[in-house]
Amino acid sequence: MSSIDSLMTRTSVPPKLLTDPGPDDAQIDGFLAAGMRAPDHGAMQPWRFHIVRGAARARLGELFVEALTKRDPAAPADAIEKERLRTSFAPVAIVVCAKISEANPNVPPVEQIVTTGAAVQNVLTAAHAAGFGAFLATGKNARDPHVKAAFDLEEQDEIIGFLYIGTPRTPQSEKPRPDPKTFTTEWTGLPLAAE
Ligand SMILES: Cc1cc2nc3c(=O)[nH]c(=O)nc-3n(C[C@H](O)[C@H](O)[C@H](O)COP(=O)(O)O)c2cc1C
Repeated sequence: MSSIDSLMTRTSVPPKLLTDPGPDDAQIDGFLAAGMRAPDHGAMQPWRFHIVRGAARARLGELFVEALTKRDPAAPADAIEKERLRTSFAPVAIVVCAKISEANPNVPPVEQIVTTGAAVQNVLTAAHAAGFGAFLATGKNARDPHVKAAFDLEEQDEIIGFLYIGTPRTPQSEKPRPDPKTFTTEWTGLPLAAE
């Protein structure tokens, strides 16, 4: 698949539609190397990737359960079960974090988050190009202090998303994409005073 074809055909595959095999070590390394091609103002390198697979997926699910029951001690059993199973579908999850630094005043937090998001997009595209399906999810777990602490994050840091990768159970149908012209204008400058 050409690189432009990868960009033009990528579509998210929900975790419940992902199964074994997941990417192996070399494939994951390749996806993350694509992530390192993201533009990174000031070479801040804010990204952190935590690979979760095998038995660790159930431990991540338990962490989500703990977070839910801390947020809501009266959480119903079905909500608890949903969190427990959340990580059980895709063979590989990558918890993508941004460690926010204030060391460079020219690179505010938003730029470090954008950089990490751009890295995620490269990982998604590289996974798709290799024949895998992938999905980025956040939800309350991404903002939960108990979950953040488990990934060595402080208040100012962010979980950019839980990136699930595996083999799609079924081919994905093409879905319509917005026409970029809807969001595009040609800016020709502010009117001159004489106009
Ligand atoms: C930062 C981020 C977080 C997201 N979190 C969720 C989420 O928690 N749940 C969800 O259903 N989709 C979430 N999405 C959207 C999906 O990843 C996906 O983009 C969407 O289903 C559209 O599919 P597409 O990528 O094929 O356009 C998130 C997207 C981004 C960029």
